[in-house]
Amino acid sequence: MRIGLLTGGGDVPGLNAVIRAVVKHGTSTYGHTIVGFRNGWRGVVDGDVQDLSRRDIRNVLAQGGTMLGTARFHPHSADGGLDAVRATLEAERIEALICVGGDGTMHAAHKVAETGVKIVGIPKTIDNDVWGTDQSIGFDTAVTIATEAVDRIHTTAESHNRVMIIEVMGRHAGWIAVQAGIAGGAEIVLTPEQPFDIDDIVKFLKHRHRAHASFSILVVAEGAVPAEGTAMEYTTQVGKFGEIIAGAVGERLKKEIEERTGFDTRVTVLGHVQRGGTPTATDRILGSRFGVAAVDALSEGKTSVMTALRGEEVVLVPMEELAGRTKPVPADLLRVASLLA
Ligand code: F6P
Repeated sequence: MRIGLLTGGGDVPGLNAVIRAVVKHGTSTYGHTIVGFRNGWRGVVDGDVQDLSRRDIRNVLAQGGTMLGTARFHPHSADGGLDAVRATLEAERIEALICVGGDGTMHAAHKVAETGVKIVGIPKTIDNDVWGTDQSIGFDTAVTIATEAVDRIHTTAESHNRVMIIEVMGRHAGWIAVQAGIAGGAEIVLTPEQPFDIDDIVKFLKHRHRAHASFSILVVAEGAVPAEGTAMEYTTQVGKFGEIIAGAVGERLKKEIEERTGFDTRVTVLGHVQRGGTPTATDRILGSRFGVAAVDALSEGKTSVMTALRGEEVVLVPMEELAGRTKPVPADLLRVASLLA
């Protein structure tokens, strides 16, 4: 079989592990030919292809980013996009596609699958909010990086008696904020799942700084918002593809906290450093497992499904079940983050 492979949406560490696994397993076990598309769905529409042989994937396992390139582009939203996809697949004699991406890429994959194309999806996003899988590729690396940042900021916070705000990625879900917050011992963790009340934050900080500490760490997900009817007015600012304007919520919180408490406050926006560099062992392993599972699925005739981790097992989830859903941080994890303040 000639299988097309693409990586779409924001990059994550661990994507090259998927590409390597698809090429190795696909060619050696089944004798498939793997054709890479450059820059996500954009490359399928433009017919921008790249050969993927075993030689091409040598030494890529430990490398961050994606050797295929990526883009935020959805063929069903572009004029004639779906027709262009069909035309490229015919011209390149591609019989099936493996799409690695987050909710946007999966949604596009579902739209393309509805036109009769055989597709298997693989979930990746540092936000970890793809519905249907316990974990997405890239999340573990992002949490590791964010935790190290919290650790480092701890020492300077204490030296300067400051309130330190660390803004992490997470548009619709606060997975990175909660896990890095717990692992790094943050005093306050703010997430999109639990809109906050600035009065509660100020009360907590004043009490803590009066009673037993001279510094505090607040980890905020970029998509966190104030609860309706509370004192702080703020609406999340997003770009064309729903990506959040980084720093907005962090800077806004700094202003509110400084004005209301008088405490010296600083903001660190971790931004794309969370998505860069070497993948952790967990992301390399997850990427490898998902790559193998996707090739197996297509080889067994299973399509319109996404690979997913459920407990210890990799399973296949029907793509139609993902439509319009994201995976929020569960209440018990949010509770742990707030209890250990
Ligand atoms: O892909 C998820 C994500 O990392 C979000 O957390 C963040 O809002 C967005 O990507 C940033 O997008 P871009 O790389 O396009 O700036």
